[in-house]
Amino acid sequence: MKKIYALNGSPRSNGNTALILKKALEGAASVGTEIEFIDLGKLNFSGCKSCFECKRKGSKNFGKCALKDDFSPVLEKLQQADGIIMGSPVYFGGETGLYRNALERLFFPVLRYTAPPGSAAGKKVNFAFVYTMNIPESAITEYGYKETLEKTLKFPELVFKSDPA
Ligand SMILES: Cc1cc2nc3c(=O)[nH]c(=O)nc-3n(C[C@H](O)[C@H](O)[C@H](O)COP(=O)(O)O)c2cc1C
Repeated sequence: MKKIYALNGSPRSNGNTALILKKALEGAASVGTEIEFIDLGKLNFSGCKSCFECKRKGSKNFGKCALKDDFSPVLEKLQQADGIIMGSPVYFGGETGLYRNALERLFFPVLRYTAPPGSAAGKKVNFAFVYTMNIPESAITEYGYKETLEKTLKFPELVFKSDPA
C-alpha cells in the first residue's frame, strides 16, 4: 500500500494549513492510500547544524542526519514515504522557520556533493506543497511570493527524483 505523509509547518495544529493538509490526506485515503499527519509544531527539533556527518564518506551517518531529537524518528518514518505533502503558512514573505528546519533536515542528508549534484535517497518520493497566506491573490506577484516559494520546489526534484509538481 502507498504511504503519504503531510508535514504541517504551522505552529497551529488546527489552522488553515492543517485544514488543507488534512483534506489532501483525506483524498489520498479515499483511494486506499495509507496516510499520516505530522504536526511539526509539537516536536522539539532544530534545523541542520552543518556538522557534515551526512557527507563524510565511511561515516555510519553517510547519507543520513546525525542529529538526535524529535525529528529523528520522523526522518526514519519518511523513508517509507511514497509521497510527502509539505505545508507552511507564509510568514514575512516566506516559509516558517519550523518548516524550513524540517526541510533542511529532510533534504540535506540525501543531497550528494557530486557534479552534477546526486541523491542518496533510496527511492523516488513525490512531493506536493501547500502554502497559506492572508494577502489577496492579486498581491502575490507584486510581493514576489511565487518566485520565493518556487525556489523550494526544485530541491525534491534534485534529491528525491520527484516528478516536477
Ligand atoms: C508571524 C506571522 C507572519 C505573517 N506574515 C505574513 C506575510 O508575510 N504574508 C501573508 O500573506 N500572510 C502572513 N501571515 C498570515 C498567515 O500566513 C496566514 O494567516 C496563514 O494562513 C496562517 O496559517 P495557519 O492557520 O496554518 O497558521 C503571517 C502570520 C504570522 C503569525
